[in-house]
Amino acid sequence: MARIAYVNGRYTPLSEAQVHVEDRGFQFADGVYEYWSVLGGKLADAEGHLDRLERSLSELRIQEPMSRAALLGVLRETVRRNRVREGSIYLQVTRGAARRDHPFPPPGVRPTVVAIARPADFSSMEAKARHGVAVLTQPDIRWGRCDIKTVGLLPNILAKQAAREAGANEAWLVDADGFVTEGSSTNAWIVDAEGRLRTRDLGANILRGITRKTLMALAAELQMTVLETPFTVAEAMSAKEAFFTAASAFITPVVKIDSVIIGDGHPGPISLRLRSLYFQRARKDAL
Ligand code: PDD
Repeated sequence: MARIAYVNGRYTPLSEAQVHVEDRGFQFADGVYEYWSVLGGKLADAEGHLDRLERSLSELRIQEPMSRAALLGVLRETVRRNRVREGSIYLQVTRGAARRDHPFPPPGVRPTVVAIARPADFSSMEAKARHGVAVLTQPDIRWGRCDIKTVGLLPNILAKQAAREAGANEAWLVDADGFVTEGSSTNAWIVDAEGRLRTRDLGANILRGITRKTLMALAAELQMTVLETPFTVAEAMSAKEAFFTAASAFITPVVKIDSVIIGDGHPGPISLRLRSLYFQRARKDAL
């Protein structure tokens, strides 16, 4: 079946989908994005990602391309036309196409909107989670507004590539003080000796992860303690368990950081339990 992309009001075969060569997303990374997992044909954490999209657009003063309801309609229609049951949908909104010039373009230039849905092999992701994955630490060399989900991801890409070349699945970024900020495309977590969850606070220069937020609500219901306090690489290495969260990874256990094995080298019970509870919750609440 031919894949279909949504581009500026039209549903087009992916192979023919195009944006302008002077799109500001292409020339300046002047745009934002969101990524939802699709569970049973529906968007997981739908509202949370839409909230963050609106915030990212507002922080950059990019016009909202359409109402929230219309946008959700486009996302669902893109999922439907691609017959995705288990997979993802990616949405990108840029400041639009205009003659190359650094300041914002004149009023009237409309944002560019692209949505792409893709099926995923959840069983291979599940197998990976059952084994746990390795992460590689890398210096955090990003800009100061990582709370905005922009398409300017070069430092993230370089860190992820370094991880892959080292045989690791993800890179954990480390700030100048030696504390882990987050992953290159995930939020970083540990379980400490007392069984408390720890992840970086939102006052730090990190993305406000939606999976992180849902997991926090879940942890509160389970009466687990969550500490939003920085942890060092050494603390992570001696933690009972470690994992990362993202719409693309759900909750993925970490069993190795650089060359150090975490716990007994197998995914911990807390990480696995939270993973399975997250799935139940996300499926139930998907839109
Ligand atoms: N990445 N931190 C960074 C830097 C991210 O890029 C992401 C998501 C997260 C997790 O956020 P959420 O739980 O809302 O997905 C944290 C997406 C999946 C991506 O770039 O594809």
